[in-house]
Amino acid sequence: MIDAPVRAMLVLGTRPEAIKLAPVVRAMTASALFEPLVVTTGQHREMLHQMLDLFQVCDRIELDVMRERQQLATLTARLVDGLGAVIREQQPDFVVVQGDTTTALSGALAAFYERVPVAHVEAGLRTGLADNPFPEEINRRLIGRMARWHFAPTSRAAGYLKAEGVPESTVFTTGNTVIDNLLWVLSRGEGRSQFSSGLRHVLLTLHRRENQGDTMRSMGSAVRRLADRGDVEILLPLHKSPAVREALLPELTGHPNIRVVEPLGYLDFAATLAACDLVLTDSGGIQEEAPALGKPTLVLRTTTERPEAVEVGAAKLVGTTPAAIVDAAAALLDDREAYTRMATAGNPFGDGHAADRIVAQLAADFGRTPADSLVVHIGG
Ligand code: UD1
Ligand code: UDP
Repeated sequence: MIDAPVRAMLVLGTRPEAIKLAPVVRAMTASALFEPLVVTTGQHREMLHQMLDLFQVCDRIELDVMRERQQLATLTARLVDGLGAVIREQQPDFVVVQGDTTTALSGALAAFYERVPVAHVEAGLRTGLADNPFPEEINRRLIGRMARWHFAPTSRAAGYLKAEGVPESTVFTTGNTVIDNLLWVLSRGEGRSQFSSGLRHVLLTLHRRENQGDTMRSMGSAVRRLADRGDVEILLPLHKSPAVREALLPELTGHPNIRVVEPLGYLDFAATLAACDLVLTDSGGIQEEAPALGKPTLVLRTTTERPEAVEVGAAKLVGTTPAAIVDAAAALLDDREAYTRMATAGNPFGDGHAADRIVAQLAADFGRTPADSLVVHIGG
């Protein structure tokens, strides 16, 4: 039945794309039907490089587009140009993009221009607000117009796509591949928690573009007030973005209960997350990972495209004002029952087998193996 392997080109440029596509590459490699080729755009540099050991065994092409303080328009132009050339040269059977970054949008657009079909992993997330998250909400919608396969992490995301008129036969509910990778990495047991005290452990990450500047500065002041309690160790693996560093470093350096470190490799980050008591974050991926480990999460944003965690009670959307952040954190640290309710609320983002479902569906659609011989569990 198999004549030549199906050539899959997986395009990724940022830390979360690497983390979330690594399980898809592993599943493709294991299937023997696919020949995965990873193209790293270099939208991120250090933060991407520290993730690349997740892809040791597969072929890779590297572009190097990152510039200090890159602007969205010039980044997009460089990416579409560079990826168009790679697609023309490599002639993949299809291109896989993940999520909502500039790399994902540019990968989908470059593939569309070359008439190569696109598979979208983590499709269908929506806030309904064009400027929050900016520019990711519109990036996802645009990718959704171009993709041939829409792999939605939850039934809610699948529902948004269908409501927008995406043909039902191209939408698949799979779970989120981030859970696959988190469980895989933790099972290896090689990471080390970066907390260093016997205090309560609070893990903090902030980076969103729409919060940079004054909003992020005042979020930093909230964190400092929280640290003044004296019974918490707040650990911040700091994003490489200069805009983030300018906003947060003046507020957060020099406090004995706040430790600012460089971005962590995924093994250590997963171990650190597993060892924390409370998560404060504006990250998309961490909103998904924390509930899987029973870590109560305060989402420091005014909206989220991942409301599932809030709905099950594993996360709270607290906004960006200092009073709201300090009060919500204190309420959890001081109320054991409220804490336990959140810690045991459950994980709505998947069971760790999303990538298998994605690859099984692609294999079925490429006709390389009888569809009925594949185990494809589609469900919320
Ligand atoms: C991007 C994604 C966002 C994702 C985030 C993950 C878009 C539009 N946004 O954020 O969805 O949540 O990545 O972290 O694609 N930098 C380095 N080294 C690195 C990475 C970044 O120095 O390894 C610096 C560079 O100066 C760069 C800046 O950080 O210009 C911002 O990087 P960029 O990819 O543009 O970040 P965001 O768009 O904020
Ligand atoms: N992460 C990591 N090291 C860190 C901080 C985060 O490996 O120091 C991982 C985290 O586990 C999650 C992903 O990076 O899987 C989230 O990336 P980020 O917050 O940059 O982007 P987003 O998910 O918001 O797009």
